[in-house]
Amino acid sequence: MKNLIINRYAMFNDNKAPKWIVLQLVEKCNLRCKMCYQWGETGSYLDFGKENLKLLSFEVIKDIINDCGDTKPYIGLYGGEPLMHPEIFEILRFLKEKEIKTYIDTNGTLNEKNAEKLIDSKVDLLWISLDGPPDINDRQRGNGVYKRVIKGIDRISYLKNQRNVTTPKLGISLTVTPLNYAYINELFFDNLDLSQIGSISIELQNFATAEEHSEYAKILNEEFELNTTAPIAKGLVQDPAIFSEMDTVLITSQLVRLKEACIERGINFNSSLKTLEPSNFKSYFEGNWNEMGDKKHHCSFPLTYAEITAKGDVVVCHTFYDHILGNVYETGFNAIWNGEKLKKLRSYLRKQLLPICTACCRYYYNPASGTN
Ligand SMILES: C[S@@+](CC[C@H](N)C(=O)[O-])C[C@H]1O[C@@H](n2cnc3c(N)ncnc32)[C@H](O)[C@@H]1O
Ligand code: SF4
Ligand code: SF4
Repeated sequence: MKNLIINRYAMFNDNKAPKWIVLQLVEKCNLRCKMCYQWGETGSYLDFGKENLKLLSFEVIKDIINDCGDTKPYIGLYGGEPLMHPEIFEILRFLKEKEIKTYIDTNGTLNEKNAEKLIDSKVDLLWISLDGPPDINDRQRGNGVYKRVIKGIDRISYLKNQRNVTTPKLGISLTVTPLNYAYINELFFDNLDLSQIGSISIELQNFATAEEHSEYAKILNEEFELNTTAPIAKGLVQDPAIFSEMDTVLITSQLVRLKEACIERGINFNSSLKTLEPSNFKSYFEGNWNEMGDKKHHCSFPLTYAEITAKGDVVVCHTFYDHILGNVYETGFNAIWNGEKLKKLRSYLRKQLLPICTACCRYYYNPASGTN
């Protein structure tokens, strides 16, 4: 999971508002990355219908932030592609006026044309997705995408130097899949100019098996009375056989080398799996969660973190978009955050996890380490 470093003690303060909120600004996206659980080959958004795609209104965003009172949550802007929100720069200006730290998860294709505005906005951090050297990245993310992303990085870096400013800091997020796993270090060592980059995050393709998904839907119905087939989480369903050819020794050796290089150069390094060992990657891609060095038995994230989807639904993570705790177009955020549904979910997650939690980037997070 990629984000800024959050004060680890603040994370556990008793508080009436979350410390960290992700706003899904839009559902739409200008790319169709193959592994994407939203818009990829098995993505759940493909069925939405163009005319039904939602965006989170600026007005409701203001209400959410104002509802947090004195708490200044750390804000992540997410999508789809968040730079496609028509009022993205008004939103950024509002957050800056409120002195709220903000990052954007972006596919990087719209950064070149928005470079000046992004710098003017003083947004703290851009997490830019790149999945390999040019041909590999474009096989996963679409033709011509690599070049557009690099133009954006170059333009922003050039303007930052020219204006002698340090924001936005730039992070690269790479999602490891069967297509790109052998080319991770070719991207970082042979293609990118690392002097432009402040952080690197290595995520693994998240997935759930069909059995885990149906078990999850059953629990949502039986324990949480949600009457749902969990259609959004369906986009995460994969047969682990698609990962069977992946060379986990090669993945490990690349990440160990990359981590060392990051430490040497003062670049923040994050890997969603903390234990960089072939057996751990093997267990992950085989779906043998119990064998993993990074396994968890409960999750405290919903105590401090919330996500609001473009539909206005309040959820507790990227993975739980079907587990709706309320809607900010109908009920104030504060009432939902402190409401009975969230209390019930928190209490459940204190004792056990849900069957698709292993498909969640937060699952591997270790708040005690103080880093992501
Ligand atoms: C869903 S995208 C939204 C933001 C923006 N469109 C982007 O691509 O950065 C956020 C991140 O999720 C990653 N991602 C997509 N599908 C994934 C999956 N199945 N497992 C893990 N990460 C995934 C993307 O590569 C991207 O870095
Ligand atoms: S750019 Fe982001 S949201 Fe769009 S398809 Fe790719 S990973 Fe998914
Ligand atoms: S581990 Fe489970 S409960 Fe915790 S944030 Fe992830 S999906 Fe949500």
